[in-house]
Amino acid sequence: MACQFAAGYASSRMIAIRTLDAAESWAAIPALADLLVEAVDAGASVSFMAPLDFGEAVGFWTEIAGSVDIGRRILIVAEQDKRLVGMVYLDLIPVPNQSHRAEIAMLIVALEVRRHGVGKRLMVAAEAAAVAAGRSLLTLDTRAGDKGERLYRAMGWTEIGRVPRYARASNGKLEDTVFFYKELAVAKEMAAE
Ligand SMILES: CC(C)(COP(=O)(O)OP(=O)(O)OC[C@H]1O[C@@H](n2cnc3c(N)ncnc32)[C@H](O)[C@@H]1OP(=O)(O)O)[C@@H](O)C(=O)NCCC(=O)NCCS
Repeated sequence: MACQFAAGYASSRMIAIRTLDAAESWAAIPALADLLVEAVDAGASVSFMAPLDFGEAVGFWTEIAGSVDIGRRILIVAEQDKRLVGMVYLDLIPVPNQSHRAEIAMLIVALEVRRHGVGKRLMVAAEAAAVAAGRSLLTLDTRAGDKGERLYRAMGWTEIGRVPRYARASNGKLEDTVFFYKELAVAKEMAAE
């Protein structure tokens, strides 16, 4: 059992945000696969093409759970009545000259609880987890014009730039991607040393 963040309300029912340990990550694979399939099939640009096969999603989360097991990734979930309704995971960059950096690799909130602040709370938790892991610089990328882009800007992320035709939409069309970074409080402390 890992750290529990302050709970809030969405759809008038409490949603808890917490980091999963390795055993919890393995156990959450089917629910994570359901969440990913729902998001991809609804048009999200999160690595996969629609329609996403459940078995392919299970294979993806099996690899992520394995990397949580060896401390290479951090997986944070949102739960409503113990049911998984959102997730974010971080890649702790393993190369020696970027051991201060992590990447927000994927953020998804279930359709039924979107626009209630769950995405923001997952990102706040991800930033706190990065600091706790000694990571002071975060990076991410998102499809241009997506909800995520607005969310990241509102949360103080800085745009690095935009790459045209970077990834395919679920209909196969190539779309632009925007890259962002955010320096965390720990970075300023280190810079002042
Ligand atoms: C991007 C995503 C994670 C955002 O999740 P979310 O839980 O809806 O995010 P939030 O609720 O924190 O914020 C989204 C919007 O809801 C608004 N909101 C938050 N709480 C609200 C409330 N109580 N009432 C009304 N609006 C609210 C926010 O202000 C924000 O508004 P905006 O889009 O106009 O700027 C979600 O849309 C998603 O899963 N998309 C598919 C996957 C994806 O694209 N991921 C990002 C790239 S990896």
